[in-house]
Amino acid sequence: MSNTVITYGTFDLLHWGHINLLKRAKALGDTLIVGLSTDEFNQNKHKQSVHKYDERKYILEAVCYVDRVIPEVSWEQKISDIKKYNVDIFVMGSDWEGEFDFLKEYCKVVYLPRTEGISTTEIKNRLATEVGDKYGEI
Ligand code: CTP
Repeated sequence: MSNTVITYGTFDLLHWGHINLLKRAKALGDTLIVGLSTDEFNQNKHKQSVHKYDERKYILEAVCYVDRVIPEVSWEQKISDIKKYNVDIFVMGSDWEGEFDFLKEYCKVVYLPRTEGISTTEIKNRLATEVGDKYGEI
């Protein structure tokens, strides 16, 4: 029997913490689906990505662990996605620990430890403060 895994996120400025999450998520099953937050959904969350949805999707689709990218347009879609794609395992990073336990009624829920020392926010902050001095003028 094959297992389908799903995870959600923005995956902006793709970094090794993301790859580490995707690699471990894929290892839990056979097929990995990523629910990628749309720009409109991020706007609702007061979050703005550097790369637009289509660009982030294009990059994610090139990652060997990712089998399919679907749009994440709302908080409420998870149950219907799990049913629609016959999902066996729902995965999120440990920053979301406990938040999605209500999905245990529909599939297995796994929180994977975050990779220490890297995040999109950290990259943005580092570029904003260090770009002139360290990486040269643009
Ligand atoms: N993630 C991870 N380790 C990191 C960063 C992210 O395991 N160092 C995981 C998150 O827990 C989530 C997924 O990657 O399950 C997508 O996270 P996302 O919020 O898009 O990435 P962040 O780098 O955390 O972005 P931000 O700083 O904007 O919150």
